[in-house]
Amino acid sequence: MQRTTHWWQEAVVYQVYPRSFADSNGDGIGDIKGIQSRVPHLAELGVDALWLSPHYVSPMLDAGYDVADYRDVDPIFGNLSDFQELINTLHSSGIKLLVDIVPNHTSWEHAWFKEALAHPPVNDPTVAPLTRYSEGPWARYHLLRGRKNGTIEPNEWPSVFGGLTWHEVPDAAGQPSGWWYLHIFDKSQPDLDWTNPEVRSEFLGHLKFWFDMGVDGFRIDVAHGLAKAEGYPDFTTPKPGDPTNHVAYWDQDPVHEIWREWREVAEQYDPPRVFVAEAWVGPAERNALYLRDDELHTGFNFPYLTAAWNGKALRRIIDDSLEGNHLVGAPTTWVLENHDVWRAATRYAPLATGEEAASLDGNLDISKSADWSVPRDLVIGVKRARAGIMTMLGLPGTAYIYQGQELGLEEVFDIPDAMRQDPAFANTGGENLGRDGCRVPLPWDNTSNTFGFNSGSESWLPQPSRWAEQTAAAQNDVASSTLNLVRSALKLRRSLAALGGITSDAVDLVWDETPSDIVSFVRPARLDGQAIRIVMNMGKTAYELPAGELLLSSDSDAVVAGSLAPHSAAWLKA
Ligand code: GLC
Ligand code: CA
Repeated sequence: MQRTTHWWQEAVVYQVYPRSFADSNGDGIGDIKGIQSRVPHLAELGVDALWLSPHYVSPMLDAGYDVADYRDVDPIFGNLSDFQELINTLHSSGIKLLVDIVPNHTSWEHAWFKEALAHPPVNDPTVAPLTRYSEGPWARYHLLRGRKNGTIEPNEWPSVFGGLTWHEVPDAAGQPSGWWYLHIFDKSQPDLDWTNPEVRSEFLGHLKFWFDMGVDGFRIDVAHGLAKAEGYPDFTTPKPGDPTNHVAYWDQDPVHEIWREWREVAEQYDPPRVFVAEAWVGPAERNALYLRDDELHTGFNFPYLTAAWNGKALRRIIDDSLEGNHLVGAPTTWVLENHDVWRAATRYAPLATGEEAASLDGNLDISKSADWSVPRDLVIGVKRARAGIMTMLGLPGTAYIYQGQELGLEEVFDIPDAMRQDPAFANTGGENLGRDGCRVPLPWDNTSNTFGFNSGSESWLPQPSRWAEQTAAAQNDVASSTLNLVRSALKLRRSLAALGGITSDAVDLVWDETPSDIVSFVRPARLDGQAIRIVMNMGKTAYELPAGELLLSSDSDAVVAGSLAPHSAAWLKA
């Protein structure tokens, strides 16, 4: 049942991280044929769309978020005809496909950057610091003269992956040139200059290439990063709550022109194609600017993703998101996991000492804000993750599920240093553990040493042996498993009109008066006349539920004698 005008206003989107989903040829790395073979899992789960993390040609120094060729598939994942086949299979199963696009930077192996390196700048001591070098192919990137006669970086901008955002290029003789290129992320990811019309038109071509193949939309990587403040000014580290545009390379106003151009291209298709922004932008009013009706359709809800297990905070975030998006008439989205953050079961787990863990503070740099070496109570963590996904699926708008979240997987910490691949780990000398722990290959069944990830014995990251009991096949046979819970929730969500997305003529959500650690709201009746109440107990004592037929609860023992246990959620008729 579609209850809104557009599918993307109320979809459930499943994120596939291709390296780690399913490996068809046994080389230890997931691939497109592997995804193809698991489409039945997605269809049975009942998702509306799949978002595929980058599948492009890449040296894989940031797992494909470093693109060397935007119009081809990396051979490790397959080829264009495998990709076309995947689109066809998904579409014939009624599943749409969103792919990632990475416009902020290319790989240093991209033809444009190689061409730039082949035009080395001259080390000229008379040139002032911060002077821009935009000769020939360098006009597509940001190459600047360093300070102190070129010997140190042009400014103090910090890179997301550790160190500063600058890397010096050699001159024609292979000596230091005094010129440095910008990389907000790893040095292998040079930032493009989006004031350059050639950069802009090239990307419009990339969009069309994939749209023409049948792709339904794009997830836009770092959608808040493409415009840089003029003059490359230094900034002070923002305090919590500061607007994101405080940082000279985040959320700068000219970025919106780019999204308006992209939207025009999407509108030329029938049906129109769609975008979802990865924009770590605050406050909610600034985030809403990306979602104006001539810009991007939806954006990720990072305050929701990074919230701690705290009822009051969660209610405020839900209200802020609804109000912020309402300013521009955009649907809200909800997400609890992706390939950049700790899995919810671990994040929500209290410390073994009984204390609550800190939230991630909207910070990508997770390993700094949360201490992985402190033991956590994963039994409670998994209960909370199950309650959390149920509550998310009861909210108005689009929900994102990250592969393995439907299995209740936890963050994996026991990965040998030598196997870690996230550049954030190496660039910070291991201080930031990086994101490999949420990227461990999925456990499908017990048919091989890699839990059915492939038929061999190796996977690019090791899987914990305890996952034998958490495989999809094992969970399929247990009625109370997380997999069966998520399947039931998706099925019910689809069948209940009240759980639809946002429409202009419906009140989306009405809060119940409750103690502060209870999150309880009613989704008013729509087409079928049935209102639905969603209740989550984030407190420490049982909560007496209001009257109403119980439709679903997060655990078999979550509702006893009309009371909802702590760390649990329920859906009721209201
Ligand atoms: C986004 C991606 C992340 C990647 C970064 C650089 O934040 O989600 O995985 O490392 O962009 O492209
Ligand atoms: Ca493979």
